[in-house]
Amino acid sequence: MPRTAIAALGTYVPERVVTNDQMSGWMDTTDEWIQQRTGIRERRWVEEGVGASDLAFEATKRALAAASWEAGDIDAIVYATLSPDATFPGDACFLQALLGLPGVPALDIRNQCSGFIYGLSVADAWIRCGQYKRILLVGAEVHSTGLDKSNRGRDVTVIFGDGAGVALLEATEDPNRGVLSTHLHADGRYARDLWCEGPGSKLDPRVDGALIPTARYFPKMEGNKVFKHAVVRMPQAVREALKQNGLKVSDIKLLVNHQANLRITEAVQKAMELSDEQMYSNIQKYGNTTAASIPLCLAEAVVARNVQRGDLIALTAFGAGFTWASALLRW
Ligand code: UT7
Repeated sequence: MPRTAIAALGTYVPERVVTNDQMSGWMDTTDEWIQQRTGIRERRWVEEGVGASDLAFEATKRALAAASWEAGDIDAIVYATLSPDATFPGDACFLQALLGLPGVPALDIRNQCSGFIYGLSVADAWIRCGQYKRILLVGAEVHSTGLDKSNRGRDVTVIFGDGAGVALLEATEDPNRGVLSTHLHADGRYARDLWCEGPGSKLDPRVDGALIPTARYFPKMEGNKVFKHAVVRMPQAVREALKQNGLKVSDIKLLVNHQANLRITEAVQKAMELSDEQMYSNIQKYGNTTAASIPLCLAEAVVARNVQRGDLIALTAFGAGFTWASALLRW
């Protein structure tokens, strides 16, 4: 049975840098608070009129160039986002059109911060069963247009950033490369602890003047609760993956966890007794980019940590749903 290897990664973030100091001009916050509580120094936000699929398109062009593939080499698109260009259709169709790939299947994944690993799991199953050989896996987000920039939303708004990361996945027969396993979880009892209610099908009409003062169209988060679950679930998911493959923490060359908050990453590192060399963070520059955060971080980390062919990489994420996931792969 073939395995799923990463042929190349590609990333793209908008040029516009938004600093913590700029945010303190719009709401009651400070650079000191944001850095102490989250580690974030700045994030990238799009200019008006740019959607998640535009960021995904730029990241894909870079990945295609890195892999020396043509767009036409892609057999299928799997696209994770919580901030699609439109309510429907999904962003995978918009990206497919930008890439000029009519007829190629385009699947959207709605699993928030865990979306990239959920997508990897689906793509891996397709490749292993032989349905497709070359898959474009995308994580892309534009949060900035959907955030509450008043004091009311300051806990959420300071965290999130825009960006895209993609992986070109290919079937390989090389036993020393590729995805070993993926592990997916969810607990919908916590669905309303991190969510954006509107516009949604339970609201009739979905959008009208009465919705505006309620602010139900902005994301809401029980930050402490999310934090406490995240620091337990991510280590748990990685240990589950290691156990299934008969591997140990010391076998991991690099762990890339969803970049939600630097304090969460530090807690994951401590809980798993990982060294600084086994970890990598770039939330300082980009904030929390949800489905894009793992590929954005992985692309920098493999260079910074000098990851070599065959090295073991662990991925893990936690986010809205609640959903959480892990994957083990050999580079
Ligand atoms: O990616 C999906 C998953 N998301 C996450 O994993 C995020 C998880 N949660 C977190 O990262 C943290 O809970 C936050 C960064 C969101 C908040 O940090 P915290 O240490 O949990 O702070 P808190 O919510 O307990 O708030 C502490 C204080 C409060 O004031 P009082 O009640 O102590 O007077 C907040 O009102 O900080 C206040 N606060 C702020 N102050 C300045 C909340 N947001 C801000 C802000 N600037 N932006």
